Amino acid sequence: MNDLDQLVGAAQADFAAAATPAELENAKARYLGKAGQVTELLKGMAALSHEEKKTRGAEINQTKQRIEALLTARRQALAEAEMQAHLKAEALDVTLPGRQHGVGGLHPVSRTLERIEAIFGSMGFEVADGPEIEEDWFNFTALNTPADHPARSMHDTFYADTKAPDGSGHLLRTHTSPMQVRHAVQHVKRHAAALAAGQAMPEIRVIAPGRTYRVDSDATHSPMFHQCEGLWIGENVSFKDLKSVFADFFRNFFETDDLEIRFRPSFFPFTEPSAEVDIAFASGPLKGRWLEVAGSGQVHPNVVRNFGLDPERYIGFAFGMGPDRLTMLRYGVNDLRLFFDGDLRFLSQFK
Ligand code: DAH
Repeated sequence: MNDLDQLVGAAQADFAAAATPAELENAKARYLGKAGQVTELLKGMAALSHEEKKTRGAEINQTKQRIEALLTARRQALAEAEMQAHLKAEALDVTLPGRQHGVGGLHPVSRTLERIEAIFGSMGFEVADGPEIEEDWFNFTALNTPADHPARSMHDTFYADTKAPDGSGHLLRTHTSPMQVRHAVQHVKRHAAALAAGQAMPEIRVIAPGRTYRVDSDATHSPMFHQCEGLWIGENVSFKDLKSVFADFFRNFFETDDLEIRFRPSFFPFTEPSAEVDIAFASGPLKGRWLEVAGSGQVHPNVVRNFGLDPERYIGFAFGMGPDRLTMLRYGVNDLRLFFDGDLRFLSQFK
């Protein structure tokens, strides 16, 4: 083996020992770099004769080519190894089970509210929304419940120190009834020109679902609860219409025709006459029991006046019902607090 073969052998061993591309480039420099051994050999030819240069030059060039070929082969081998390592590290096990994304669902009371809106919507009722921090005027006074009225004591709630522009206080609304006044006043404003000209105003037909607050807490009362207000005012709207609206609504809501409705005389400051509405199922676990589901009545003339309308001409009814109670009846739940505890074991059963 001559010196050139030895050099090729040494380069091959060096390249093989290089474990990374960087190490390989260092090894390359030792042979093919500016001060590398092959370069040194070429420099060493200066002292040779013309003939010797020819043969020696050709031999060295061949040697250089062999080393370059070895280098290329090693480069490819390292690149291939790197690629394999990558592939291994990033390997996907396509047989693993997928990650489950929890699918959310609507709260049972939200489902009830959606049903209420859809059913009343089909009967031509608009849906109105209003503030939960309400003014004393809308919550009580405008609803024929002045400051000294005993009915206020049944609506104990949370009061704020702030004052409304009219000087009355703010409170967390105790019912959705203030929305009757807010909505009717807007409606009357929209049709002010027609009213001033003595023309008929389109009927007010609206429901207002939402959160309400009272100082109350037990299995069937929560300090925050839901109500849905209803109001239908026109020139010829009567208790007969109220009864048919309720019949349609409850039969649709509970998906049964086997259901009776009765009106029980009652008192609310904002209606005269007033009635509690009870329903009874003809079959099922609640068969034959009268269940109170709403308060209602013919809107009091004082309230109609606060709408900005003439009670001699405009008449109608209002009602307020409890979506929480309806949800309990529909799903057979007997403790209201379950709905507001936020326990997913309970709530996820309604998906
Ligand atoms: N606001 C009443 C309450 O919270 C419920 C109610 C009764 C609403 C009769 C009405 C109504 O609109 O006419 O107890």
